[in-house]
Amino acid sequence: MLVLGIETSCDETAVALVDDARRIHANLVLSQLDEHRPYGGVVPEIAARSHLAELPGLVRRALDTAAVSLDQVHGIAATAGPGLIGGVFVGVMLAKGLAAARGLPFLAVNHLEGHALTVRLTEGLAYPYLLLLVSGGHCQLVAVEGLGRYRAYGATLDDAAGEAFDKTAKLLDLPYPGGPAVERLARGGDPARFALPRPLLGRPELNFSFAGLKTAVRQAAEALPPGDAQARADLAAAFQAAVADVLADRAKRALARFQAETGQAGPLVVAGGVAANAALRAALAETALRAGSRLVAPPPALCTDNAAMIAWAGLERLAAGQRDPLDFAARPRWPLDSLTLDQAA
Ligand code: KG4
Ligand code: ZN
Repeated sequence: MLVLGIETSCDETAVALVDDARRIHANLVLSQLDEHRPYGGVVPEIAARSHLAELPGLVRRALDTAAVSLDQVHGIAATAGPGLIGGVFVGVMLAKGLAAARGLPFLAVNHLEGHALTVRLTEGLAYPYLLLLVSGGHCQLVAVEGLGRYRAYGATLDDAAGEAFDKTAKLLDLPYPGGPAVERLARGGDPARFALPRPLLGRPELNFSFAGLKTAVRQAAEALPPGDAQARADLAAAFQAAVADVLADRAKRALARFQAETGQAGPLVVAGGVAANAALRAALAETALRAGSRLVAPPPALCTDNAAMIAWAGLERLAAGQRDPLDFAARPRWPLDSLTLDQAA
């Protein structure tokens, strides 16, 4: 079974072809970074227009890369939300058009489910597992019990983890996107130089908060001696260490709850763009080991937005018998724990 996946919910135009033997036949990602960089963030209107211009050609290139024709494809999956709605429309409309023209099933995929199931594609991981989803727009802990069966343990009360990285990058005059730039700068830094807060650390409920940390970083950044490169690196490292501590503490508590509820020690899965961060992965791996569990993470290139994860989630749903109607409405908001196995119903 071969599924074509389309991802256009943010600033990556992506197309992939994935089969049920977990082979990725093509996985193309066009980043729009250069178009958004002058604005220091993603401009939704620019993103949508760019998806519209690039997507048809990228579908052609993906089919060429995989050396298959649409006749060999069994389903067309596209991110139908959550995300920047103009871009989501572009991907969904092309997917529906291809499905209608070829008489193929259309699968409306939830972007978060794409992140959540990536480890099933890359590692063949079995259900259930505990998911820490950390991206630009989301920060949540979820018990993944099966396809379409997600139980939320907790989420951020304010900013997402990726948002905190992006805002910290701005305060440190680093280019967009902030996450990779902060990680690079932090490598040469001493985290002990700045004492930053760890919001909600040690609290029993499994929520996150990054607003207080962001304020502390702003105050420290404004007090930095001008031109002191080492101090900037130290602040980046201190910020990253604070995020690592918070994520590790929440993950530890969530693992305990997961074990109490399922009788399973994990595994702990980390997914989403922030999961590309090596320091955070190391902290979470240690936490999991200490809890008698293990960390499973997709390779960094499949942590950030891509279409292989969308094709895979579509494939799992297609294999489970799902078909979505061609009037399925794209949605800007679409929480993971609102999904069911038959989301169209
Ligand atoms: O999953 P993703 O590609 O898009 C969303 O669905 O949001 O995540 C993007 C987020 C951005 O905030 C970006 O700064 C962050 O992931 N990110 C990182 C790293 N790479 C990407 N954050 C920390 N360290 C990284 N290496
Ligand atoms: Zn994402």
